[in-house]
Amino acid sequence: MKIMSKTGIFYSFNSIKTSKAAEKIIQEFSPDINILPVNAEVLTEELFLSFTNLILAVPTWFDGELPNYWDEFVPALEDLNLTGKTIAIYGLGNQVEYPENFGDAVGIMAKLVQERGAKLVGFTSAEGYAFESSRALTGDQFMGLVLDQETQPRLSKDRITNWVKDLKVQFKQ
Ligand SMILES: Cc1cc2nc3c(=O)[nH]c(=O)nc-3n(C[C@H](O)[C@H](O)[C@H](O)COP(=O)(O)O)c2cc1C
Repeated sequence: MKIMSKTGIFYSFNSIKTSKAAEKIIQEFSPDINILPVNAEVLTEELFLSFTNLILAVPTWFDGELPNYWDEFVPALEDLNLTGKTIAIYGLGNQVEYPENFGDAVGIMAKLVQERGAKLVGFTSAEGYAFESSRALTGDQFMGLVLDQETQPRLSKDRITNWVKDLKVQFKQ
């Protein structure tokens, strides 16, 4: 019998754009990997730790900050040992309106989980975007997938397809 480890996608069920992206991501994994949707607005440590592979949806709010619902989970997250977890992060942003903080929340969350021992996967090229600065960057790559549904909506589909292709290889089964 093949034992499947659990893969979850954590996002706010109330954020329409982030939810739409989550649905596309789940579709791309299907039927190879079953992804469980989890509402990031009602997270507990126990629920978070029950997954081996985690996809965290972290849009940037408030000029370079995490959304409220993630911010509220940060104190709990800071106490967790994430060794053995494989984590991928995606986030929505707007490079035209917020060129100095484009997708910053992806970088904030990436740092948090990496410092607690998680293996961070799903880095993507920053080519094709135009912005001033981003905390999501390491070298010339984003530490996750940054989607801009407001100024580059037509590019999101392929960006998601390519990202999920990579994650299928990276996630432990
Ligand atoms: C008040 C406000 C501040 C924002 N700040 C940023 C920002 O600093 N960087 C960025 O890339 N996008 C920023 N955005 C754009 C959002 O990330 C974008 O609208 C995204 O689609 C929101 O996704 P959600 O509605 O699913 O949470 C901001 C949007 C608003 C309304």
